[in-house]
Amino acid sequence: MKRMKIYRGYIAAIAFGGVFIITLTSGGILDLRHLLRYAEEPIPAYVTHTNIPTHNPITNRGATLGRVLFYDKNMSFNNTSSCAKCHKQAEDFGDVEIISTGALGPPKRHTMRIGFAGMSSEVRAFWNERAVSLEEQATIPIHDGNEHGFSGMFGLPTFDSLLRKMEGIDYYPILFNFVYGDSAITEERMQLAIAQFVRSIYAFDTKYDTGRLTVNSELDDFPNFTAEENLGKRLFNTLPKDGGAGCFQCHVPPEFGMDPNSLNNGNIGIIHGPEKTDTGVTKAPSLRNLITPTGKELGPFMHDGKFKRLSQVLDHYISLDKKAPTPNMDPRLIGPENNIELDDTQKQAIIAFLKTLVSNRVFTDEKWASPFVNDSLEVIPLMNGVANVRNQHYALDITPNPAGDYISLGLEKTYYQLRIFNSNGAIVLQKTISGGDRIEVHALPDGYYFIQADQLGGQKHYSGKIIKL
Ligand code: HEC
Ligand code: HEC
Repeated sequence: MKRMKIYRGYIAAIAFGGVFIITLTSGGILDLRHLLRYAEEPIPAYVTHTNIPTHNPITNRGATLGRVLFYDKNMSFNNTSSCAKCHKQAEDFGDVEIISTGALGPPKRHTMRIGFAGMSSEVRAFWNERAVSLEEQATIPIHDGNEHGFSGMFGLPTFDSLLRKMEGIDYYPILFNFVYGDSAITEERMQLAIAQFVRSIYAFDTKYDTGRLTVNSELDDFPNFTAEENLGKRLFNTLPKDGGAGCFQCHVPPEFGMDPNSLNNGNIGIIHGPEKTDTGVTKAPSLRNLITPTGKELGPFMHDGKFKRLSQVLDHYISLDKKAPTPNMDPRLIGPENNIELDDTQKQAIIAFLKTLVSNRVFTDEKWASPFVNDSLEVIPLMNGVANVRNQHYALDITPNPAGDYISLGLEKTYYQLRIFNSNGAIVLQKTISGGDRIEVHALPDGYYFIQADQLGGQKHYSGKIIKL
């Protein structure tokens, strides 16, 4: 039997009736030469409320590292969960379960959606704003004994042990060096990168934004809206004393993030029962993306997941005047001048308006999706120190794989610059090829290799990975 090296994540050799069956599962590839566009994501001129600090702007390199940290299960002490276990892209980076199953112990509150978290003048984070910034927030769940578990308490490992663990994971020294110029892994660097990634999760591609671009003021009717959507927008933006719903005071357009001065909205329950109250809840996620592009409401809503449907949220605001004000309730919801009265048509109109705030791309774009495949990731390092924002990037269809003496790359028949890198990032083969060529790899020692084919005079970049046994 040929002696085999086992490469983490790629090969499972199963003894089956004396025959070895080799299954090749491919991991994710992150190509540092061709970055996805984070810094270039447009922000329209009418957007004025953001919490992007001058010391930590969104960069392609930083957000790329943040993306890896956000999705890496190595960030949890038992390698089972990551931020994405609770913050799911398909649910606007929130969770439709009241209590996320990612939790090791019961979290006190419902998971917040984090799409557009960077697009508000509120800089603090969490429902009760206990983190002073998204940077501070970024590693709190990692320290938390109920979340990622690096608390250093009750027999759980310390945060320092996580930093040591990361030093031993092949891609982290490469990535930290790529972002910060040296490979030191620190909590502060993790915070900066995660916060960049979290703030990068926005796209002004909604029906609302299409309309907003064509008018001078938020208050003008939008030409691309139906009469119902324009009615909903007017009610949202009008004070109750003038017959509206007054929502704009706290969920501030055009980003629909939280007004930093908001107090609680009268909903002070906790998930586990009525006996305790949670009066410090003064922040909600952006009201953009309350609904998926296919029209599914992303309830339950509020910190205690009390309301399944948006219609129930509206009923909550409408019924407030029939109740005594709760402690720490926002004065903008108290008193006869703030009574919200809406009939069914008006309620439906507000919900129709909220549906115009849905971004398609936040739910689907690759740049916010996991770079991992089968929990594994290979980073293609920079060869010449220059990273380009990626144009068009495709996976190679390499056969056979594991490779024999020759491989074919499944390319259309134009010319390409071919480079093959070994697992240390060194170039082991470089030449110009035509799409149909078979590539001789006979001379390469056993191991795994990254293959890069860049179309000559074109925009297309292909990459893939082979293993030689
Ligand atoms: C076990 C589920 C879970 C995991 C894992 C988790 N979160 Fe959260 N996240 C929550 C919950 C619950 C809240 C609200 C907590 C609160 O306010 O008390 C929250 C709130 C947040 C917020 C605040 C949003 C805002 O607008 O204020 C951000 C940002 C965030 N999480 C990012 C992350 C990141 C980054 C990670 C990984 C390092 C992570 N979360 C891991 C459940 C989770
Ligand atoms: C005085 C400030 C204030 C006003 C006015 C206000 N809200 Fe809120 N809203 C909040 C606060 C604070 C929360 C978080 C409360 C919680 O989680 O229990 C919230 C939560 C929400 C949520 C839940 C978001 C989520 O992701 O779970 C929705 C939806 C919402 N508000 C819609 C509205 C609408 C529609 C109006 C107008 C009828 C409105 N709000 C008026 C302060 C306000």
